[in-house]
Amino acid sequence: MSYNTVDIADTAFINYLTKLFNLSIGDLRCMVKEIHSEMQKGLSGYSSSIKMIPSFVGLPDGSEEGSFLALDLGGTNFRVVEVVLDGKGKASTEASSKYTLKKKDIQGTGAQLFDFIAECIKEFINEYSLDLHKTYELGFTFSFPVEQTNVAAGALISWCKGFTSTGVEGEDVVVLLNEALKRKDINNVKVAALVNDTVGTLVAKNYSVSDCDIGVILGTGTNACYCEKMLNITKWRGISHRDSMIINMEWGIFDKLPFTYYDRTLDKQTENVQDHLMEKMVSGMYLGELTRLVLKDMANREICFFDRDLSHFTRNGSFKTEYMSRIVEDESDTLSDIEEFMKEFGFISINLESKQILKDICSIIAKRSARISSTAIAAVILWKDPELKETHTVGIDGSLFEKFPGYCDMMYSTLKEHFGSKIKNVKLETAKDGSGKGAAIIAAIAAKSEQE
Ligand code: GLC
Repeated sequence: MSYNTVDIADTAFINYLTKLFNLSIGDLRCMVKEIHSEMQKGLSGYSSSIKMIPSFVGLPDGSEEGSFLALDLGGTNFRVVEVVLDGKGKASTEASSKYTLKKKDIQGTGAQLFDFIAECIKEFINEYSLDLHKTYELGFTFSFPVEQTNVAAGALISWCKGFTSTGVEGEDVVVLLNEALKRKDINNVKVAALVNDTVGTLVAKNYSVSDCDIGVILGTGTNACYCEKMLNITKWRGISHRDSMIINMEWGIFDKLPFTYYDRTLDKQTENVQDHLMEKMVSGMYLGELTRLVLKDMANREICFFDRDLSHFTRNGSFKTEYMSRIVEDESDTLSDIEEFMKEFGFISINLESKQILKDICSIIAKRSARISSTAIAAVILWKDPELKETHTVGIDGSLFEKFPGYCDMMYSTLKEHFGSKIKNVKLETAKDGSGKGAAIIAAIAAKSEQE
């Protein structure tokens, strides 16, 4: 096939992909039912692909006060933050530093990873001249599935998002952090709370928007949490003075989904095979790779221009989700931006149809992601409020939601298919810095309840 032509086979293949990645509203309604059934199992303590992990915290009341540290581990960077809470519902970030995680930090031993974290904290203390005689309470945002046993204790169930550090799975990550702090002679930091990023997001957003009752991450990974009545958490065996508690769902692990050949191929390449299967269809860490696998398949079939020059994209992970953003963003008649982009990767003189095909592929894959994530949100809303009588703000953090062109609109249009005119009761809003401010608020709640 020539480099610059698009023939009927190409169109047929795009039609095939459209169908393959399409999820009808019927499929999505079945998904809601499956999610409810997994949620029920998870809350009852049965084996389930939605873990429903009690977080040991409820929603804040705004009276939290003081200066706290927060750590954020679980995405592309590691962050240390100092947050001040004024006791009147305001949280402000006083200092913040970002550190790049290298492969050796996340794929070596657990001690290496936690030493790296402790070293960053040490640097932070020096850089911002923190008071060495004061004990700082710290909220540790650790965005992985953790079976919490306490607000400041919990064992890692399994790694995901490319992390593989040895000797951590099954261990209490707060103990591992404390050991590393000791090794680095850091004596003025006390881990007051272990926090999932979704929980931090919900708590931080609820601080300013009181009807925010669901926290969602759509970034490197995906997950959600919401506040559940204690009575419904039937696996709960402890005593509790509260009526409700935030549940970290771990919906990224949900696996009752129609997987394609590309999903299975991608899964086999990952460090956590057969795990976090919904995350692999939805989140930023994987959408680019799914696209690359489709392009590779087209090249193998000698369809379109992808039969050549694919050498830039031969490696797993070489086609990034942000490239998809750039491609779908191009609204020009000639798709000149896509052309620019393709030139950077060594493709020359591409005809309009080929550029359009590339754009279509990216859109098809992103659309499926948005339809799945918004359906999972619909499932949580319907679980809490089957007739949608109340208003619900969903606080969402993550670059996929924030930066992918049209992602939020695709979510709304799917929610509209689920809810019809009642969609007016649902708002999707960006929720920034749950892992900083949210973790600090949770550390404050935990520190206060310890004093009581
Ligand atoms: C993964 C983790 C989960 C986290 C999510 C978003 O799915 O298992 O704990 O919330 O990524 O970071």
